[in-house]
Amino acid sequence: MTRLVRKAVFPVAGLGTRFLPATKASPKEMLPIVDKPLIQYAVEEAVAAGIEVMVFVTGRNKSAITNHFDTAYELEMELESRNKVEMLEVVRNITPSHVSCVFIRQNMPLGLGHAVLCAEPVVGDEPFAVVLADDLIDDGERGCLRQMVDVFSKTGCSILATQEVAPSETTSYGIVDTEEVGDLVQVRGIVEKPKPEDAPSNRGVVGRYILTSEIFHQLSQTGKGAGNEIQLTDAIARLMAREKVMAYNFKGHRYDCGSKMGYLQATVDYAVNHHHLGEEFEAWLRNRFNQA
Ligand code: UTP
Repeated sequence: MTRLVRKAVFPVAGLGTRFLPATKASPKEMLPIVDKPLIQYAVEEAVAAGIEVMVFVTGRNKSAITNHFDTAYELEMELESRNKVEMLEVVRNITPSHVSCVFIRQNMPLGLGHAVLCAEPVVGDEPFAVVLADDLIDDGERGCLRQMVDVFSKTGCSILATQEVAPSETTSYGIVDTEEVGDLVQVRGIVEKPKPEDAPSNRGVVGRYILTSEIFHQLSQTGKGAGNEIQLTDAIARLMAREKVMAYNFKGHRYDCGSKMGYLQATVDYAVNHHHLGEEFEAWLRNRFNQA
């Protein structure tokens, strides 16, 4: 089996109910952090990890994401005629030319596991990444996916990105039961959203995975689970019975942009660090809260 990860799957077909009404006609992955939609940050992280094929599993509001990664001739002509060179570069360089985008429709929102299974015809028999764009991870020195792809090239095992979570937060995460094997941490079990007293560890799974193609077989055998949806977590639990699955505590800060609080925190941090806006925004922020 190859240890090269060439493809990334972006499940973007969720209903995004926590952001209604913003997500009524547009997917939550199109919500911007300052001036870039969440999905673009996620694709940039995948490109930085050497991934070349981006597979989007879209839902009923698919057109915004499809259009975002397509050429916008009229817009480009308009920017050209107004001599807006910088903006023209921005819209032309959303993805590098060696990267291709493939769109697959998930006809019914039957869950994350089902969305990943929809990508099987494009991914085929090779390892791939799954990226949940509402988990925004700042790139630091090396992006989270880059770190995971490097670990995969050494081990060839499926990898779940994990981070330490506070006891009060275990009810929001899949929590892994792990065992250290040399430098690596092997997953022995996953418990979905346990109470703090039932949590087997303080490691929670976040939205980055490298999976072998065996997961498709396991997903096809997985029935509906929590929330009456086909859960990726359940298929990973089945995968563990056949193959090693690793947990990887990535380096970097993660923002849960599927929640309003995480989204607002990311917006403020990215605005303060923004190359054009940062200084002015930080000065405004300090002034605003000194006044309060
Ligand atoms: P979430 O659990 O965050 O659900 O999905 P959601 O519908 O997007 O948001 P809320 O909770 O209603 O606010 C996790 C990821 O799985 C995708 C979502 O787009 C998100 O990236 N997903 C979920 C699908 O692609 N299809 C589904 O059927 C369900």
